[in-house]
Amino acid sequence: MIREMKESDLAEVTEIEKQQFPESPWPESAFIYEMKGNPFAFLYCYEKDGKVAGYADLWITYDQAQIADIAVRPEYTGMGIGSELMDHCIREAVRNGCEVLTLEVRVSNVPALGLYEKYGFIRAAVRQGYYDNGEDAWLMVKPVGGLEYDNDTGD
Ligand SMILES: CC(C)(COP(=O)(O)OP(=O)(O)OC[C@H]1O[C@@H](n2cnc3c(N)ncnc32)[C@H](O)[C@@H]1OP(=O)(O)O)[C@@H](O)C(=O)NCCC(=O)NCCS
Repeated sequence: MIREMKESDLAEVTEIEKQQFPESPWPESAFIYEMKGNPFAFLYCYEKDGKVAGYADLWITYDQAQIADIAVRPEYTGMGIGSELMDHCIREAVRNGCEVLTLEVRVSNVPALGLYEKYGFIRAAVRQGYYDNGEDAWLMVKPVGGLEYDNDTGD
């Protein structure tokens, strides 16, 4: 089940964050800022067996959406939960009239690249030295619709 993230989820979320991003986990304060201080952020949890099994942080800024964070509890990876979170983010982006969904990912992150390419994201550009350890990121982009541009002038 996917639902909005609550403050009471943060102990589990930050535990998963440390397991899945050991080099640069977001601290609890970052999630609290996203929840309470960032008007563009929408945080979702995937709940399974009464536990937080995964989560995503989606930013919706007018015609663009960005996945700022997405992770699945290690013991629940490979079961389709990342895909369900991605489906949800895409639906929310479309529902809000966004034209593109973007994200950054480490060039070495094979599972995440697999997930994004399964959903039709393209590798649009390299952000050199994007991460603290100097690793590059792929900027990945997926058109998600938005309003059709009407080019018919009636002439
Ligand atoms: C990336 C991540 C969210 C995927 O979640 P998941 O629940 O395992 O994903 P799914 O089970 O829905 O798999 C979706 C697709 O991802 C790809 N994938 C998943 N695990 C993979 C692996 N170990 N190797 C290669 N591709 C993989 C496959 O294309 C898969 O599609 P398929 O099952 O049809 O083959 C998860 O691995 C994770 O939390 N990683 C650590 C955090 C992270 O890197 N987040 C992204 C930061 S940009």
